[in-house]
Amino acid sequence: MNNTFSSYRSLFPVLSEYVHLASCSQGAIAHPVSQAIEEYHNSLLSSGTNWKQAILKLEATREKFAELINAEPDEIAILTSVSDVLSAVATCLPYHHTRNRIVLTDVDFPTVGHVWYAQEEYGANISLIRSLDGVLSLEQYEKKVTERTLLTCISHVSYSNGYTQNLKEIADVVHKKGSLLFVDAYQSAGHIPINVKEMNIDILSTGTRKYMLGIPGVAFLYIKKELAEQLKPRHTGWFGQESKTKFDIFNSTYAPGARRFETGTPSFISVYAAHEALNLLLDIGINPIHSYLKKIAGFTREFGLQSGLQMNSPLTTEITSGITSFYMDNASEIEKRLGEENILVSARNDVIRIAPHFYNTKEEVEYAITELSKFAK
Ligand SMILES: Cc1ncc(COP(=O)(O)O)c(C=O)c1O
Repeated sequence: MNNTFSSYRSLFPVLSEYVHLASCSQGAIAHPVSQAIEEYHNSLLSSGTNWKQAILKLEATREKFAELINAEPDEIAILTSVSDVLSAVATCLPYHHTRNRIVLTDVDFPTVGHVWYAQEEYGANISLIRSLDGVLSLEQYEKKVTERTLLTCISHVSYSNGYTQNLKEIADVVHKKGSLLFVDAYQSAGHIPINVKEMNIDILSTGTRKYMLGIPGVAFLYIKKELAEQLKPRHTGWFGQESKTKFDIFNSTYAPGARRFETGTPSFISVYAAHEALNLLLDIGINPIHSYLKKIAGFTREFGLQSGLQMNSPLTTEITSGITSFYMDNASEIEKRLGEENILVSARNDVIRIAPHFYNTKEEVEYAITELSKFAK
């Protein structure tokens, strides 16, 4: 299995010292991303202020992310974390007693539960679908999503076991009941193609720290324009106004489209990083990245099982994400011990996640699993 992306490896300094298999946590940083961070920093050092350039970069980044998921720039808001995006949406939905149910699943990242359960006091009624061996079926959505469901919130890829859901199929099921679909794409954006129009997704969120090759501080909200304009965010501020340069404290008019969900000054330094990271991803293309990572994940599964590891990722479903996880006692301790050998993997509760990106090779995965399996014996 050749790495067709090997020419890009030299862009990532960390790869010369480390086996970096932790893109589900923090992706590797490329030289152009690091230079963009320096550009922001240096512009403050050399000219004291850089507001105008930073605003232009914000708009360019919005356009790039829109291109990545086939949305319109007007349908994108830039916030700081996926938790922020979830909270911004959750706090402005109308929880009418005839349609106030929010459906979530137990493969979602815990913050999803924290945000939605916090809305119970304000009229939301939470309903949770439990997975079977880490997998959810379409029938479960058909049963659990009803005419009372306001919104169904799902993960594209589970942070824990890499299980990937078919967004289009789920969108069809929930829309038949009149529910909105919110997709948490933090573990898929950057390595799995997403087309919000074809998949008919109403709302989607992701951040730039993982497979999107950026740093913390930027998260994107995609929301269909016509839906955004029916909502009045309560988590708000001057960046969410039609004109933030009016400086009018007496009147408030929401910006058109998704921008109304923005609040205050974003983390510009993270925006600069996101812009270059998106350039790199768009230049390489998500389709070839996805094809390569499916092969690498297939090898990870096969070699892990051969090496006596116990899979946490489902064995019954087709491999569609780059994340493979294995049960390990003392996972955090093992993450630390492998880190001391310059192997970066990521622990969550009792699992170790192996999360390669396009810059990784089969040999790196083989080496990491060989070392990991020593702890299983
Ligand atoms: C799938 C998923 N959603 C949400 C989050 C939380 O993101 P944030 O810290 O930006 O709120 C994570 C973090 O790892 C995640 O993996």
